[in-house]
Amino acid sequence: MEQNIPSRIIKKRGRLLESGKSNAYRLVHGAGDGFKGFHLDRLGDYLLASKEGKPDLAEEEIARGWMSRLKSRGVYLKQLQKHVRHSNKECSSPKIWLGNAGQSETTIVENGVHYQIRFDEGYSVGIFLDQRENRQRWLQQKVNSRFTLNIDALKSGDILNTFSYTCPFSVCIAKSGLRAVSLDLSRKYLDWGKKNFQLNELHPETHDFIYGDVFDWMRRFRNRGRIFSGIILDPPTFSKAPKSKKMFQAERDYPDLLNLALDIIEPGGVILACNNT
Ligand SMILES: C[S@@+](CC[C@H](N)C(=O)[O-])C[C@H]1O[C@@H](n2cnc3c(N)ncnc32)[C@H](O)[C@@H]1O
Repeated sequence: MEQNIPSRIIKKRGRLLESGKSNAYRLVHGAGDGFKGFHLDRLGDYLLASKEGKPDLAEEEIARGWMSRLKSRGVYLKQLQKHVRHSNKECSSPKIWLGNAGQSETTIVENGVHYQIRFDEGYSVGIFLDQRENRQRWLQQKVNSRFTLNIDALKSGDILNTFSYTCPFSVCIAKSGLRAVSLDLSRKYLDWGKKNFQLNELHPETHDFIYGDVFDWMRRFRNRGRIFSGIILDPPTFSKAPKSKKMFQAERDYPDLLNLALDIIEPGGVILACNNT
């Protein structure tokens, strides 16, 4: 089975496979690995394949190859959808494809930090693996060897994590000894975030979890004169707050978001601005 994985792919993933600090990362990077439109992630004891439509034989073979090599329990399949917001949770959740379905909840480790993931909560399982290096930057308070965040020298010491989702960035912030303020308009995701804190023996009650719209809250912080030493902007491409008539569209609204962040960042503070369009 393992011979189904081209050696060039094993070589490219070598550092991650050998690090021993993570069991969650991408194994097959679509066209970059010669499998256009097909992605395969390791998520702890399981693998998650993503594809628009049905995987072909070569894709099944590489998935079986990785499953055997990593002794994974099963491979879930997520059908990529262009209009995910129109489908319900059950339809959009990944389904077991190869091997055995286990419990729908499992724990992964990334750079020594634990996160809960769920295969039955819709399209996203609770973490976006492509932010691994940015999460590590907060964990180590270091952008690169020449640029440390030097947050200790700043006044507020609080880091605002907007669109916090299940709070993976906040967990890294808290692990590094700083205070995380997580802001999201889903109570369910904020509660999931608190579980992620507990999984890492962090105390959620010593951090802030704020339910509400990012724009409303950032204006409120500005009006109250509240400042932050760091701000994370990692919004979805589009979203709609309940009760609000306005839709957030990253392409159109990012300048407003960034301007609000500039109003509440303290001098010398750090803004991480990510764009998912
Ligand atoms: C793609 S995720 C963000 C990813 C996240 N930053 C991370 O670290 O993985 C989208 C999140 O943004 C939240 N969200 C969307 N629109 C929002 C808004 N206007 N105000 C607050 N949260 C919002 C959603 O509830 C969801 O948890």
